[in-house]
Amino acid sequence: MSELKHATILGSGTMGPGMGVVLARAGMQVKLFDVDAGALERAQGMASIVEGILDRLEVPVRDGGALSFESDRAASLAGTEIVAEAIPENLELKREVFRAIEDEISDTAIIASNTSGIPVTKLAEGLRHPERVVGWHWSNPPHLIPMNEVIPGEQTAPEVTRAVEDLTRRIGYHPVTLKKEVAGFVENRVLYAIMRECLALLDEGVIDSEGLDLCVKWGIGYKLAVVPPIQLLDMAGLDIYTSVASYLNASLSNETGVSSTATALKDEGRLGIKAGRGFFDYTPERIKELQQQRAGALVAVRKALS
Ligand SMILES: NC(=O)c1ccc[n+]([C@@H]2O[C@H](COP(=O)([O-])OP(=O)(O)OC[C@H]3O[C@@H](n4cnc5c(N)ncnc54)[C@H](O)[C@@H]3O)[C@@H](O)[C@H]2O)c1
Repeated sequence: MSELKHATILGSGTMGPGMGVVLARAGMQVKLFDVDAGALERAQGMASIVEGILDRLEVPVRDGGALSFESDRAASLAGTEIVAEAIPENLELKREVFRAIEDEISDTAIIASNTSGIPVTKLAEGLRHPERVVGWHWSNPPHLIPMNEVIPGEQTAPEVTRAVEDLTRRIGYHPVTLKKEVAGFVENRVLYAIMRECLALLDEGVIDSEGLDLCVKWGIGYKLAVVPPIQLLDMAGLDIYTSVASYLNASLSNETGVSSTATALKDEGRLGIKAGRGFFDYTPERIKELQQQRAGALVAVRKALS
């Protein structure tokens, strides 16, 4: 497959604008479409913030790239070679959209889904060309986390997987391709295993939220960013790991339900930053401050790690 130059992003919510700016800076002609005019308008503001962050990261701007905002789906899909789908995480909605766009794109255009964990094989069911569907899972914020999971479904053509891996490299990111489909893929399985244990420790009253965050941030997060888990096993020694795991694993959370603390907060409307309150409380000023501080720290850490 020759180098992809034209992309369409469906959905300009949390993920779409950052994905669009990254692809455009890598030299692609990108059209961003959303069914909601308000979301498209907000995406334009977000795109200019993202440009500023990528300037600070010194991400190159390659010739020929551009990002435009489209309220007409057919126009956004004209001439596209890859559709990057970032609409809500709902199997039926994604399937309905994929079936509809098959009539609006060329037979060889790739459909790459940013699903967080819906099996790609299910997303491709019933399509005329299931071989063109592949998972392309970006991590949030998509303009800062330089790793995309690539997930072939049972029917995905190898050249489609390769084309998405190549494109991921072209934007300066690491493609991580799964050898087989598994619920939640790899990144979210690991994240949710950590979240389950953290919430179980809160549910059991072992520690409070502030203490838990401090322990994980400095004891685990900082270290894992430099020495990832398998390298860490070698660093710690497999004799040490196997002896600790032999008594500790049995007492770790294997809860199959959802944490009572998280469920109670959700039921009270404490949904997190978007509601101004979650585990912690947030004023609008605090939210702005946190966003700036986190973006700055992610830029600095990424520079330090690359
Ligand atoms: N938010 C995250 O942290 C994150 C991380 C990785 C992957 N994802 C995945 O990315 C996808 C998008 O997530 P998000 O958080 O950006 O969602 P979001 O709800 O913020 O945005 C979705 C956008 O899609 C639009 N939309 C709805 N139906 C549409 C349609 N038929 N055509 C075009 N646009 C449509 C909505 O108007 C909205 O603006 C989901 O599959 C999600 O699981 C999200």
